Amino acid sequence: MSPEYPENTRILLRLDLNVPLQGTTVTDTTRARLIAPTVRALRQRGNLCTLIAHLGRPKQREEALSLRLLVPILEAILEEPVAFVPDVLAGEAPSHAGCVLLENLRFYPGEEANTESFAKDLARWGDFYMNEAFSVSHRAHASIVGVPALLPHAAGPLFLSELTALRHVTEHLIPPVLAIVGGGKISTKLGVLRNLLKVVSTLAVGGGLANTLLAAQGLFVGTSLQEPTQHQEAKKLLEAAHQQGCTLLLPKDVRVRTASGEVLLCSVEEVPEDAAILDIGPETAQRLEQEIAQAGTVLWNGPLGRFEESPFHQATERIFRAIAAETQRRSLVSVVGGGDSVAALNVAAMDFASFHTVSTSGGAFLEFLEGKELPGVQSLGL
Ligand code: 3PG
Repeated sequence: MSPEYPENTRILLRLDLNVPLQGTTVTDTTRARLIAPTVRALRQRGNLCTLIAHLGRPKQREEALSLRLLVPILEAILEEPVAFVPDVLAGEAPSHAGCVLLENLRFYPGEEANTESFAKDLARWGDFYMNEAFSVSHRAHASIVGVPALLPHAAGPLFLSELTALRHVTEHLIPPVLAIVGGGKISTKLGVLRNLLKVVSTLAVGGGLANTLLAAQGLFVGTSLQEPTQHQEAKKLLEAAHQQGCTLLLPKDVRVRTASGEVLLCSVEEVPEDAAILDIGPETAQRLEQEIAQAGTVLWNGPLGRFEESPFHQATERIFRAIAAETQRRSLVSVVGGGDSVAALNVAAMDFASFHTVSTSGGAFLEFLEGKELPGVQSLGL
């Protein structure tokens, strides 16, 4: 499914340029690279492309999250100059064709509040709105739902292909379904985890999420990332899994780093006082491989460990390889989603084509799996 591209028009193009950062260094440019064919196709038809996006979750102007830092990256990827507009409210769309990038939309409170006035401020930059950010479609923000109410609009090809692939997978879930959820904070994923229990046979949890669940069960997790304020909710989740007959797989062994920098493998019952859990261990990885071998569908969001840092990338990479192998061997329906998961695929040098679907969407992917209507999909009439 590909859209009709407008010609010689001022296009307001909503992208997801929410790339992972370490300080002000972009550590993975996948999201910027994926939108290049769309921008090129629009530019070849004589359009002016005004690119709009967010970076991080600032509540006001924060120089470290200025989209200016994406300019050289976009220029290299698009192979043309990208003019940067530091104030969305003050500048004006040039009349000649070219590429313009507006400042981080989240510097403006009207974006998240979806005020009519901010939507109008954005809409004046274009005559046609295209949304190429499926991964932001769970946000009812001005650039996602406000602007398409004001301008003729369409979904971009990447948006459509992600939506089509996820619809296909969720409508044809082949049991048994295994979900693997990693990442940092359980507080941001509790709703999703609760809802996944209704859909999946096995829910495997890794990363900081697992630490909170382990700590809620009374295990000592040393200096690991975890959320003590979420222990009650974590216990309810464990109870709900039990009641619904869903197997909740938590790490049995982990790879930790002590205060002195020593890397150790230990059981979750023996985490040293000064150590942080940074990956699941080989015994847990092997158990996961057994689940993958039996699964009809595998849904994955969020890395299992600190994949950016060796040797804590090992389990995530091992599990990617197991899923890719099963996908190739017997057409396992495998979906990997989320910005960090995609970055981890790149670190592991995995070919995206080895999976059924790779989606750059994190929250949107999870809310889609929950069966929620996504405001950004609705606003385009899809
Ligand atoms: C993402 O990274 O999943 C999207 O860019 C949405 O970002 P958000 O969760 O900060 O809204």
